[in-house]
Amino acid sequence: MSDQHDPASESATATPAKGNRRNFMFKIGAGLVGIGGLLVAAPILGYVFAPAFSNWEKRRSWIDLGGVKQFPVGETVLAIYKNPIFGPTAGEANEIPCWVRRKSETEFQIFYINCAHLGCPVHWFEESKLFMCPCHGGVYYEDGSRASGPPPRGLFEYDWQVVRDKLYVYGGELPNLQIPGKTPKDDITPLTIDGVGYLGGKEVKTS
Ligand code: FES
Repeated sequence: MSDQHDPASESATATPAKGNRRNFMFKIGAGLVGIGGLLVAAPILGYVFAPAFSNWEKRRSWIDLGGVKQFPVGETVLAIYKNPIFGPTAGEANEIPCWVRRKSETEFQIFYINCAHLGCPVHWFEESKLFMCPCHGGVYYEDGSRASGPPPRGLFEYDWQVVRDKLYVYGGELPNLQIPGKTPKDDITPLTIDGVGYLGGKEVKTS
């Protein structure tokens, strides 16, 4: 009889459908794993390869730190500037602290706040005249050179200049061991005020 139930033929038609569904689910799963892997890997790849591709010298610019009078001779004080890389929407993340040391009437040192080991913010201790890192005990002398602990070098330093009685810092991208703190002199863009260029506190021609 033609209307008799035939399990064998049912199984034969069901098997390809199940196989297709399993195949489909496998592809979806593999796709999700792939997307997850990319999301995890992207920041790591960015960290590793960004320095090679980033035109980091061009991401720095001169930022007004205020009148020189607010930095007493012989003292090291904290100053904060707005990072030029990010827009105003970055909020407090846009505010970058740095240590300003005024060595004399005309000489300054400006240090990145980040420890040269793993980047924790270092603190200045006036009594001992030392910078200390709270993370792993890195210590630096007042001129930023390494005193002890795990940091492989001294503190990173900014370029600076005094123009019209104001201190300017060449700020922007944060340093790491691939991106040194100081910009090669030839790559520094002059500060321009009222159409006049300045480098090292002196007037220069701008193109
Ligand atoms: S981050 Fe400063 S000593 Fe490790």
